[in-house]
Amino acid sequence: MTGDLAGRIALVTGGSRGVGRAVALRLAAGGAVVAVNYRRDAAAAEEVVGLVTEAGGTARAYRASIDDPAAAAGLVEQVRADYGPVDLLVSNAGTASRGTSIADTGDEEYLRLLRVHTLGPLALIRAALPGLRAAGRGDVIVVSSSIVQSTPRGGAAYTMAKAAMEAAARTLAFEERAHGVRVNVVAPGLVATDMGERLVAASGGATIAELDGRYPFGRVARPEDVAGVVAFLASSAAGYVTGQRITVDGGGPDTPIVAL
Ligand SMILES: NC(=O)c1ccc[n+]([C@@H]2O[C@H](COP(=O)([O-])OP(=O)(O)OC[C@H]3O[C@@H](n4cnc5c(N)ncnc54)[C@H](OP(=O)(O)O)[C@@H]3O)[C@@H](O)[C@H]2O)c1
Repeated sequence: MTGDLAGRIALVTGGSRGVGRAVALRLAAGGAVVAVNYRRDAAAAEEVVGLVTEAGGTARAYRASIDDPAAAAGLVEQVRADYGPVDLLVSNAGTASRGTSIADTGDEEYLRLLRVHTLGPLALIRAALPGLRAAGRGDVIVVSSSIVQSTPRGGAAYTMAKAAMEAAARTLAFEERAHGVRVNVVAPGLVATDMGERLVAASGGATIAELDGRYPFGRVARPEDVAGVVAFLASSAAGYVTGQRITVDGGGPDTPIVAL
């Protein structure tokens, strides 16, 4: 495949479903070799790899749970051994919190969310940095959430983990600028994925299809809406962009419907 991303080695965590799947397909369409990370659902990851391969691109599935720092570092090393150093890292894998109030949330829930949204991604970044620096241009793109602004009830564990990772990303942008590494954050509102459907169901029993008409532009965001912004940030058009956060929520609902 040829395109703006030809020659890039991309690693997309949680690339098998939802937002990550769309990101993996979009980066591959731009010409990048794509490592599709997943945790459990091998069939979904292989489907993404199949779609990329059928379209003439290069992709491979890699099982690793990002909440395990050793597994995250091992993932980076495995991709390096297969294709060369990762120069485009999309930290996307994530899970929702249990939705309990601060009054009812203990340390273990905070730590569970911090492991998957903050500590695991930081281990991944540490492992990838030598390759990112050596590439001349390296990109780290973190998928966060607009929840960092809305801070809804019941979301503290998830919101705190996402906010911590955003703070780390801004710091990293300054620290790695001298090495040619761009670091940016993409913060979606509600997205039509498995996670999005679960969150909507948990907050009132509706479905995303039922909510579409009440959202900006007549629809809840689709994974491709987020993938387009990730692809832009990775592209030559965004070569002078670092330390930024782009919200992908259609400007936000006038009245919050499902706060994310
Ligand atoms: N959906 C939304 O409304 C929304 C809104 C704002 C932000 N986000 C953020 O966007 C990102 C993607 O969410 P999504 O909606 O696409 O979720 P999703 O549909 O539930 O898909 C999650 C993906 O992440 C993988 N994954 C989960 N835990 C993992 C782990 N510990 N290690 C490796 N991979 C793991 C899953 O792989 P397996 O299937 O193999 O487990 C799957 O590929 C997350 O960071 C989420 O917090 C989502």
